Amino acid sequence: MDEKIARARDAITRADKLLVFTGAGISKESGVPTFREADGLWEKFKAEDFATLESFKKRPQEVWKWYRERRSLARKAKPNPAHIAVAKLDRLHWDFMIATQNIDNLHRRAGAKRVLELHGNLLRSYCLECGKKVDESDADLDGEVPICSEHGCGGLMRPDVVWFGEYLDPNILNEATRFASECDCCIVVGTSGLVYPAAQLPYLAKRNDAAIIEINPEPSAITGIADYFFEGKAGEMMPVLVEHIKEG
Ligand code: OAD
Repeated sequence: MDEKIARARDAITRADKLLVFTGAGISKESGVPTFREADGLWEKFKAEDFATLESFKKRPQEVWKWYRERRSLARKAKPNPAHIAVAKLDRLHWDFMIATQNIDNLHRRAGAKRVLELHGNLLRSYCLECGKKVDESDADLDGEVPICSEHGCGGLMRPDVVWFGEYLDPNILNEATRFASECDCCIVVGTSGLVYPAAQLPYLAKRNDAAIIEINPEPSAITGIADYFFEGKAGEMMPVLVEHIKEG
């Protein structure tokens, strides 16, 4: 194990371009639920009831109530040692990127700056009519369905997250795709690797001969291409992988 850790650390240290690709598992130790595990969100709720534009248009009040609960949970959650270790890499590595499928804002709250949020951000909303975006990180969480405040608009505001059947923001996806295709080390943390197009990122990195390092308590769809698979929790393994890197 020690030798495997040493080799993975070496791949991180030598990388000219370093990508960290994360999923819900990295936030589990912060108390944010995953999706497909036994206690996951998509085991308890039907995705089509809460995560489609159709359901939002039919039942905006109910959908907002569900998202407000998730917002409240994400705001109460604290970044865990894995988010902090990833933010340390962001501070210290000159050509670095986080591509996250998470919408909980915890990478940024841990201090990371270079974050591509592939599936949006739970704490932002945008207007269905005029597209105006609003950061609601500090907004009041109670209330009715929010209405756009743009003069004369009055459109319904929706959470700025990618729902089923929707496309990812092409600029964000392109940037993530380009970065993955050019990186020489990709650390994959806490994802089942089942949701595309996000899940293609480690494969693009592999095609560029990048070293693939994975942390997950269970094998995932990506484990087959991992050069170093660490079977464990993100909050325990991620700090071990970066502890040799000294802050300036
Ligand atoms: P999943 O719920 O599919 O997978 C969570 C992964 O985290 C699993 O592989 C777990 O084994 C792993 N895991 C659990 N605890 C962990 C821990 N402490 N440390 C590390 N890993 C742990 O979540 P995602 O792969 O993120 O999309 O799901 C991808 C997308 O599916 C989400 O972004 C969301 C969902 O539908 C949208 O909402 C668009």
